Amino acid sequence: MKYSKLLFIIIVAASCQAGLDSSNQSSSKVSELLRNMTWNEKIGQLSMSYVPELNSDVIAEIKSGKIGAILNGRTSFYSRVMRDSMQRIAVESSRLGIPILFGHDVIHGFRTIFPISLGQSCSWDIDLIRNAAEVAASEASSYGVNWAFSPMVDVSRDPRWGRIAESYGEDPYLNSVFGAAVVSGYQGEQLDSLSFLAACMKHYVGYGAAEGGRDYDYTEISERTLSEVYLPPFKAGLDAGAQSIMSAFNDISGIPATSNTHTVRDKLKNEWNFGGVVLSDWDAIAQLRHHGVAVSDKDAAVAAIKAGVDMEMKTKTYFELDSLNLNHKTWVDESVERLLMFKEKIGLFDQPYAATKYQLTPDTLSRFLARKIARESMVMLKNDRKTLPLQGCESIAVVGPFSEEKELMGWWKSLGDTRDVITPYQGLDRLALSKINVTKKITNFTDLIVACVGESQDWFGENNNRAFLDLPGEQEEWVKSLKKYGKPIVLIIFNGRPLSLTNIIDDVNSILIAWHPGIEAGNALADLLYGFHSPSGKLTTTWPRSVGQVPLYYNRRTSGRPDQISYKDELITPLFPFGFGLSYSSFEYDVPEGEFVESHPRITIDVTNQGQTKASEIVQLYRKRADNIETFPRLSLIGFDKKLIAPDEIKTFIFQVADHQPRDRYFCGSSSADLVEVGI
Ligand code: BGC
Repeated sequence: MKYSKLLFIIIVAASCQAGLDSSNQSSSKVSELLRNMTWNEKIGQLSMSYVPELNSDVIAEIKSGKIGAILNGRTSFYSRVMRDSMQRIAVESSRLGIPILFGHDVIHGFRTIFPISLGQSCSWDIDLIRNAAEVAASEASSYGVNWAFSPMVDVSRDPRWGRIAESYGEDPYLNSVFGAAVVSGYQGEQLDSLSFLAACMKHYVGYGAAEGGRDYDYTEISERTLSEVYLPPFKAGLDAGAQSIMSAFNDISGIPATSNTHTVRDKLKNEWNFGGVVLSDWDAIAQLRHHGVAVSDKDAAVAAIKAGVDMEMKTKTYFELDSLNLNHKTWVDESVERLLMFKEKIGLFDQPYAATKYQLTPDTLSRFLARKIARESMVMLKNDRKTLPLQGCESIAVVGPFSEEKELMGWWKSLGDTRDVITPYQGLDRLALSKINVTKKITNFTDLIVACVGESQDWFGENNNRAFLDLPGEQEEWVKSLKKYGKPIVLIIFNGRPLSLTNIIDDVNSILIAWHPGIEAGNALADLLYGFHSPSGKLTTTWPRSVGQVPLYYNRRTSGRPDQISYKDELITPLFPFGFGLSYSSFEYDVPEGEFVESHPRITIDVTNQGQTKASEIVQLYRKRADNIETFPRLSLIGFDKKLIAPDEIKTFIFQVADHQPRDRYFCGSSSADLVEVGI
């Protein structure tokens, strides 16, 4: 039996510093600047402007030091040249020459577009996710972007919510490890403005809990749920060194996140000792008026800065703060100091301009990575009678609304270019095994239908919520209509959220969830369909049977009547559980064994590949906790590992558990619904 390296330490202890340590002293440069700044220059440092064009008003604002940072819009970008022109004005023509920070929504790639974050999470591959962030950082920073507004680590338990696509799913642990991986991918070992990006974890906090899955709506979150579910991913990202945090739009149990002293100043800055920058979301400070907690822009500004929000995105309410008010002065000085230290830390004073050498088209290496992560993100949910991989077919028809779609880059596609996208048809045609004829129409000669359906990129993402979770439009009817041809049907779904597939699951032979896979969509798909690689992705969200079951997530709390919870008109179980995904191979799990090593449980399980195909398997470890006072989730994921296993090979998975409590029980298996208790 071969023992592989010990990979996972479970539950990261909150040991290291959170972002910039607030105990850090300002450098002499920052102190000197602070001493010399006028009130307006200070407020200017706290202002992030949206600048679609460089006109005389913008030039005047930059010259007078009224702009501390600039952001790109989702669809309108400052060019590299415009970026440096603005920077030159700040550095050479403003009184203090403080460089501007340039921010952008780099979410799942910059020029090389990778799968949406929800898709990436289904790879359960920390290294791949970090590598994708590294590529994004190198492309974006060479364009002159210093600050990425990601990772988004909002635990998302409601598939109706459009922004579930930007998250790493429903589990706090997965959002923690993948969020931390993105932070380290962006920031590297030594953060500097020419080759790395500063990460901005968002949206702090509880944004994913919007009632009814309606973006921007109210969230009711108990203190306990806040600390067990919504806060841990932020803490993990800060421990990985994240330099900034974006506050959220939502109201948390009666106090808006943007004016929430408890979550921002008390928890983040004082308790966690975070010394970095808190940025508001777009317009969110002015929107405190809509929340009703402010009657004027000035009130809104006071509430936000008092809560600890350092920088204001888009609106200019901080200019209403009062230079003669001692409290305002103290809060402003603290925030300006944080901003200047942030700029210094990322090397902006030394390197204010974009790099002279840059690479702005996806190269072979980044395409290779995009293809790999797209392939590993895809999840096979059904494969009756081994319809996949395609074998013995002479002619396949690749049809459906997404078969030649190029918009497969998700809602945030940054500078992604549709010309770089390989469509499903193109990929399957190019990589066709010599004997296979790939057509765009179903004919008498067709042996198998590859039906490509899904949600287009504006059906998920910000404020793209849904009340129904089936395939949009008439796609379900269309899928059903394919049965008349009497051919096997492989359904490929390009989507941004879990869908309820109940109505069509019996009408097709195989289902592969492709998400919005990015520029290498078609190639990744062909790799799997032709069997060059086996699917290995597993779901990071629960897939409901119908929208009435929502919210439905695996780590719900226990109940006094666990076996009696039911619906009159629907099954209680999900259609597909968290952690589920099929492979071309089959794996046998040995009985897991546990022992205490220096009072920490160490759990070992052997997994044998019993199939004919080399394939990766993701082994999951869950804990069921209990004590005499509180209730806990039915199960909590606390570790996982993924290994490539050859046919007949046995691989050993070893997990080391960090924070064992007396009544803890452990379960190991291939999904949250296929587990064996660990004897310990
Ligand atoms: C979104 C943020 C985003 C910001 C800037 C807001 O509407 O909520 O996630 O970073 O816009 O584009």
